Amino acid sequence: MLELERVSVTFNAETANEVRALRDISLSVPDGQFITVIGSNGAGKSTLFNVISGAVEVDRGHIHLDGQDITYQPEHRRSHDIGRVFQDPRLGTCPGLTIRENLSLAAIHGRQAGLRRDVKQAQEAWFIEQLEQQHLGLEQRLDADVALLSGGQRQAITLVMATLIKPKLLLLDEHTAALDPNAAEQVIALTQAQAQAHDLTVIMITHSMQQACLLGDRVIMMNDGQIVFDFSGEERKNLTPADLIARFHSLDSGAELADRQLLG
Ligand SMILES: Nc1ncnc2c1ncn2[C@@H]1O[C@H](COP(=O)(O)OP(=O)(O)O)[C@@H](O)[C@H]1O
Ligand SMILES: [Mg+2]
Repeated sequence: MLELERVSVTFNAETANEVRALRDISLSVPDGQFITVIGSNGAGKSTLFNVISGAVEVDRGHIHLDGQDITYQPEHRRSHDIGRVFQDPRLGTCPGLTIRENLSLAAIHGRQAGLRRDVKQAQEAWFIEQLEQQHLGLEQRLDADVALLSGGQRQAITLVMATLIKPKLLLLDEHTAALDPNAAEQVIALTQAQAQAHDLTVIMITHSMQQACLLGDRVIMMNDGQIVFDFSGEERKNLTPADLIARFHSLDSGAELADRQLLG
């Protein structure tokens, strides 16, 4: 269970460039829940991820993960429990290293540091099994430099590596936004499959209303550093992209994004 209690973040406080990126955000995420987050540019979505992962410190408020207060825990400590996939496929894997070498790094980074040989082999077998299920042929290319792979293939590997550490929480920040539509669709299918198979707790930021309605069991809309809509249960089940666009239009800053969605 992730809990944010009245979290606020202000950048460049008391200067002309002051930005209140998060305003008094409270949010409870039960284990196994899959939330999609939407909101216009600058709404505070990535900042929300940055305070959860420890890349940005809160001004006020508290963050608990599984009952433990992690508000001031350093980012590298939290990264053992919190997996993250970014928009840029280059950020998730190390070029110049093979898929297998990247896997080793991910495993070392995980909670089972100082792995015994048999554990390592078991992890590699698990990883290969996950890759096989994707039907991308990546399991045949374990000794290929990841720099040679496409963006979609790299995101797929990043996603599987992030799952390998058995994260308490997986944060996906527009992880398909830089991909072509085909690759995006594959990575979305993989996201869904991994979340279900491993009962992951996921928060996924997306600019796609379709994705927001397709995946997960809760939709959160952010605007101007606040959570303005939070749909779950029956309300979430009946939610359509058109409903979300209408909600955007009801916000001052939403019209532009809604138009982009309608055009796209
Ligand atoms: N490190 C930073 N320094 C100063 N301003 C920032 C920083 N990170 C984000 N911001 C600002 O905070 C606001 C929210 O940004 P962000 O969380 O990235 O929005 P989103 O991901 O929803 O597009 C924006 O106005 C952005 O310019
Ligand atoms: Mg962002």
